[in-house]
Amino acid sequence: MTQSPGQGQALDNLLTESRTFPPSDEFAAQANAKPELYEEAKADREAFWAKQAERLHWDTKWSQVLDWSDAPFAKWFVGGKLNVAYNCVDRHVESGHGEQVAIHWEGEPGDSRAITYAELQREVSKAANALVSLGIGAEDRVAIYMPMVPEAIFAMLACARVGAMHSVVFGGFSAEALRTRIEDSSCKLVITTDGQYRRGNPAPLKPAVDEAVAGAPSVEKVIVVKRTDSEVAWTDKDVWWHELVDSQSDVHTPEAFDSEHPLFILYTSGTTGKPKGILHTSGGYLTQASYTHYNVFDLKPDTDVYWCTADIGWVTGHSYIVYGPLSNRVTQVVYEGTPNTPHEGRHWEIIQKYGVSIYYTAPTLIRTFMKWGADIPAKYDLSSLRVLGSVGEPINPEAWIWYRDNVGGGKAPIVDTWWQTETGAIMISPLPGVVSTKPGSAQRPLPGIGAKVVNDEGVEVPHGGGGYLVLDEPWPSMLRGIWGDDERYRDTYWSRFKDQGFYFAGDGAKYDNDGDLWLLGRVDDVMNVSGHRISTTEVESALVSHPTVAEAAVVGASDATTGQGIVAFVILRGGAGDEAGGAEAIKALRDHVAKEIGPIAKPRQIMVVPELPKTRSGKIMRRLLRDVAENRTVGDVTTLADSSVMDLISAGLQSGK
Ligand code: WTA
Repeated sequence: MTQSPGQGQALDNLLTESRTFPPSDEFAAQANAKPELYEEAKADREAFWAKQAERLHWDTKWSQVLDWSDAPFAKWFVGGKLNVAYNCVDRHVESGHGEQVAIHWEGEPGDSRAITYAELQREVSKAANALVSLGIGAEDRVAIYMPMVPEAIFAMLACARVGAMHSVVFGGFSAEALRTRIEDSSCKLVITTDGQYRRGNPAPLKPAVDEAVAGAPSVEKVIVVKRTDSEVAWTDKDVWWHELVDSQSDVHTPEAFDSEHPLFILYTSGTTGKPKGILHTSGGYLTQASYTHYNVFDLKPDTDVYWCTADIGWVTGHSYIVYGPLSNRVTQVVYEGTPNTPHEGRHWEIIQKYGVSIYYTAPTLIRTFMKWGADIPAKYDLSSLRVLGSVGEPINPEAWIWYRDNVGGGKAPIVDTWWQTETGAIMISPLPGVVSTKPGSAQRPLPGIGAKVVNDEGVEVPHGGGGYLVLDEPWPSMLRGIWGDDERYRDTYWSRFKDQGFYFAGDGAKYDNDGDLWLLGRVDDVMNVSGHRISTTEVESALVSHPTVAEAAVVGASDATTGQGIVAFVILRGGAGDEAGGAEAIKALRDHVAKEIGPIAKPRQIMVVPELPKTRSGKIMRRLLRDVAENRTVGDVTTLADSSVMDLISAGLQSGK
C-alpha cells in the first residue's frame, strides 16, 4: 500500500502504546450500551437495525429493512414514512418536554439564548411556513451559508420539515466555493446572515453571497438573518429573515416523507478538484445518527448537557449537533465563536457555566489546548464532564492522555469516533462503559457495522498487520450517491474492491495484537488539515489559476498542531519576473488560494521551484515532495523521468529561491 512517511512514524508511535483504561463499575452499571449489543447485532443484523429504527416515530412502518438489490445504491426501511423534523422537535413537545431547553446558545460576544423544545417547534414551524411561502417544497435545494447562530439550525430543520434538501456550505468558504456548490445542485434559495463574529470582530458574510448569487442563476431568493447589524448591499432577491419568518404562523403540520426521501447534500473534497455532493436520505440516516449518539455518548436526556464543538458546515455538525442529538431530546450547548475569544479558557468557562457533561471535539483543538497550557483548564470547574469524544483525524496517544488527564479529570471515558461525510454517522468507536479504551485507537466497529483492514488483494490482514480500511456491509446512514454523478460514486468508493463488494474508505489502518483498529490517515490525495478534508488537486487548481503560476504540486506535510499542513511547490511562468518569487508575491499566492477556496486551504508554505518531480507517465511524485516538505532525505528517485530534478529542487531551495 502507499503509506506516507507520516503514517510510518505514527505506526512506530502506536506500536509502543499499550495502555488500556477499563470502564469503572459505576459507569458500566449506568451505561446505555450493554455488551450484549454486539451479540445481538451479530445474530441478526437486519433485525438489530429494525430495532434501532424503532427509536423514531414512523407515520407508516417499513415493509423491508434493507433493499441492496441495486448495490451500491441502498434502500433502508423500504416503504416507511416519517418526518425528520417532527422526530427532532415536535414529538418531544408532545411527550411533555416542551419546557426542556434544547439549545443553550452562546454568542461569541457574550450574548446568549436558551431555546426550549416548545420554542424550537415554533421557530422551525415559522421558518417552514416561510419556505412554503417562497414556493420551496419537496426536493428543492436550499443552500445554507451561515455562522453558528440558532437560525442556522432552524433553517436546516425547516428544510427537513417541508422535504427540501439543504446544502450547508461552511461559512469559511469563499464566494467562488459557494457559487460552484450552489450551481452543482441548482439551489433555488440561499439562507445567510449579514455578517458573523470571528475572533472578537464582526466580519461581513453577505458580500460573498452577493458575488456567488450573481453567477448562479438558479437562485430565486436570499434570506438574510441580521446578526452583526452591519451595512449590507441589497438586491431584489434579498429578504430579511425577521421580516419574512417572524410574520409567519408558528403552526405548521409536518408531512411524512418516504424513508428514502433525500434529506441533504453536503460537499466534501475528493481526489479531483471538483467537490463531491454527498447525498443522504431520511429514515436510515436518522436511525443511525440517533442510535450512535445515544450509545456512543451515553446520552441521558433528562440530566446531560452535551456540547459538540463542530460547525454545522461539516458533517459532524449535521449528525451530532442537529439530527442525532435533537432526535434524542438532548439539552445542548451551541457556541458561535472561536475557542480563544476573548481568552484561551473560553471552552472551559462555557463547560463550567452550563455544567456540560459530554464534550465532543477534534484532536487539532486538543493539541492547541495543550500548546496553550494545562494551567488554563485547571482554573475552571470541569467536574461535570463524564464522557469525552474525539473526531476528524487520528488522535495521537499523547493528546489522548492529555485530554483524559486535564479535561476528563483522569476518569471520563474517551470515545475516539471514526466516520466520514459519506458514512453519515459514527462507524468505529469504543462504547463507553463496555469497552476498555486505548489511547489512539478507535478500536472496533459499532454493533451493526462491518469494517475490516485488508491488503491490496482485498484479503483481511492478520492481527498486527496494516492495510486499507473497508466497510464490508451496507449501513443505514450510508451515502446514497454523489449528486448528479452515479459513475463517480461507483468509481470512488466501490471500484477498488469491486470483486469483494467492499466500500473503500480511503484511509489506511492497522490491527493491533488484540484485533483493535488504529486509523493511520488518508491513503489518497486528500489532506486532513485541522480535521478538514482538502484535496491536493483543489489547491493546485487554485494556484494555477493565478497569472504568475505555470504549474503547482501540493502535499500535506505532518504538522504538530493541525495534523497536516499544506505545502505547495510552484513553477512560475516565464516572464513572471524575479519579484514573482519574493515574499510579497508568495503572500499574494496564499491569499489567492484563500479567495478561491477559503482561508482553511491557505498553504502553510509555498516554495518556488524550477521543476517538479514526475514519473515517465507524467504523474507528479508527491512522495518525494513530502520528503522535502518534512525535511527528510529524499527517497527513491529511480522512477522519475529525470532523476536530476530533485537535485535542482534542493539546490534551488538552499539558495533561498
Ligand atoms: C478522518 C469527519 C482517524 C479520516 C467525521 C476520514 C479520522 C476523514 C477520524 C473523514 C478518527 C475522521 N480517527 N481519522 N476518529 N475521524 N477521520 O468527511 O481520514 O470530514 O476518512 O468526516 O477524516 O472526514 P470528514
